[in-house]
Amino acid sequence: MTAAHQPKAIRLLPDTLVSQIAAGEVVERPASVLKELLENALDAGAAAIDVRLEGGGVKKLTIADDGGGIARDDLVLALARHATSKIASLADLENVASLGFRGEALASIASVADLLLTSRLRGADHAFALAGGAREPVPAALGAGTVVEVAELFGQVPARRKFLRSEATEFAHCAEAFRRIALSRPDVTLTLSHNGRVVQHLRAEAPAARIVHVLGEEFGAGARTVDAQAGPIALAGMIGDPAAARASRDAQYFFVNGRFVRDKVLQHAVRAAYADVLHGDRHAAFVLFLNLPPAGVDVNVHPAKTEVRFRESQGIHQFVMRAVGAALAASAAEAPVPGATAVAGPGRGAVAVAAGAPTDVARTATAPLPLRGGGAGRPQSQSAYYALFASAGAERAMEAPAGAYAPAPLPAGDLPLGHALAQLHGIYILAQNQAGLVVVDMHAAHERILYEAFKEELGARRIAAQPLLIPVAFNADRLDVATATEQAEALERLGFEISPLSETSLAVRSVPALLQDADAKALARDVLRELREFGSGEALTRHRDELLSTMACHAAVRANRRLSLAEMDALLRRMEETEKSGQCNHGRPTWYQFGLADLDRLFLRGR
Ligand SMILES: Nc1ncnc2c1ncn2[C@@H]1O[C@H](COP(=O)(O)OP(=O)(O)OP(=O)(O)O)[C@@H](O)[C@H]1O
Ligand SMILES: [Mg+2]
Repeated sequence: MTAAHQPKAIRLLPDTLVSQIAAGEVVERPASVLKELLENALDAGAAAIDVRLEGGGVKKLTIADDGGGIARDDLVLALARHATSKIASLADLENVASLGFRGEALASIASVADLLLTSRLRGADHAFALAGGAREPVPAALGAGTVVEVAELFGQVPARRKFLRSEATEFAHCAEAFRRIALSRPDVTLTLSHNGRVVQHLRAEAPAARIVHVLGEEFGAGARTVDAQAGPIALAGMIGDPAAARASRDAQYFFVNGRFVRDKVLQHAVRAAYADVLHGDRHAAFVLFLNLPPAGVDVNVHPAKTEVRFRESQGIHQFVMRAVGAALAASAAEAPVPGATAVAGPGRGAVAVAAGAPTDVARTATAPLPLRGGGAGRPQSQSAYYALFASAGAERAMEAPAGAYAPAPLPAGDLPLGHALAQLHGIYILAQNQAGLVVVDMHAAHERILYEAFKEELGARRIAAQPLLIPVAFNADRLDVATATEQAEALERLGFEISPLSETSLAVRSVPALLQDADAKALARDVLRELREFGSGEALTRHRDELLSTMACHAAVRANRRLSLAEMDALLRRMEETEKSGQCNHGRPTWYQFGLADLDRLFLRGR
């Protein structure tokens, strides 16, 4: 036994050390201090809160509120551990309506920074102040409410201080904490200053106005409103336009009973609702408020209270997914056709205009559009068309099944998306319909068509596979090799055969028939990665659409591929039949309608 292993006597830890250890859980950086203090101010009933930061909040963080204040004799308790005015029993905890309840925040902060608490109880003659570590409050001057000053965060705890980042980064985290609170309480006036400069001033306002002030006009412009209720559970808020989705998750705000949370169940529910209009690597922006009886949710899961546990998480998932899905679907009817000003005429989308169908593009799709001409131009097998676009050479188009394209010169008015005129810069198809000019983003449209085709094939049974004449071998990491083995069955349903060659290499032997000309290696890698992330069985079913969308993206016709007029027309016809073809899987629009009247206006032609 070495000296280091000599048993030592067991001792109770000193109070300060206990608080410092506890602080490790709640106080990570200035932003966590700010969050705790803002929550305290809100719990005290503040109508206005003023936040001043210096040096990213590390040097100094001051927050003043006009809430109910603290009695002189309670000041010492406020800084003591496990002292709270908010709950008194387990029953209280289960029905907690306040943001705080642990009675630990102030004590934790005081143990790792210089803290000064000044407060005037409503109705009291004057205020009292108490510094962290002091025993007795002293009289102080303060009009109303409470001021908490926190200076030199982690000044005495160098081990923690070195984890702090630059002033700019720490400030950015503080600003985010401020935004979350601002979103959750539009009825409170909030001001944020940094190094003497006011960064944001938000007056008490209506919820929607607050959301736009915090997330920006751009979000507001395309956002849809969510408002759903199921018994005692309600979901309200605003969700972003799929077309304005971002590359990161940074504009996703979910509040449960007024508390900002990060929750997988909720996150997933929103994602699932967006799945059909958003690609896997894009993220929708949203601000959603879920309200339910406190007994239905456990907030005492994590010291920072950003995690919750639902009693009925399955039900909550369903409810949120449906509510968000409904908001997205409803908006398909109302959403302006992209290129707003270009639209004139009776309907809002060419599909609806020409076919005289309801304007809800997303829904008309379930029943194919009633094309005059009896749909004679439709291919016998849907796959025939995709093969056409997945093929490498334009010549192949000519070998397409005879029924694949109806060259009968129908008047443009009979076809919602009209007849192709030309291809522009290898990216766009220009077509003429009765309303005027249609411009189609070739890749985006094709991707949507493929995606829907995959969905249909998989729904029916499995995706048709095409064995490769020469298997494509590639180096893979061990996880991918394991996934290929474990998920062989799922892969087969998707039209793949990928077998291990060694511990670190794989061979692609079959790919989905529609994707036979895609880069097999890149495709296999992507599909394996997603399978690994989503897991198998039920999880995979839930993520099916994300996976199919990834696959579709691989095969969709790329820019600069020359298309014949026949191919272009075929694409237009498929778009007319395809569900939700107005938007590609990434949420980008697939086509624009330019009305004749708009063109006339451009050229100042009086009509
Ligand atoms: N701004 C404030 N105005 C009025 N009272 C306050 C304010 N800040 C704190 N208090 C009082 O001090 C007590 C301790 O605050 P503290 O943040 O440490 O714990 P808590 O809010 O009760 O629980 P939690 O640790 O979960 O935040 C509160 O219960 C409250 O009574
Ligand atoms: Mg608190």
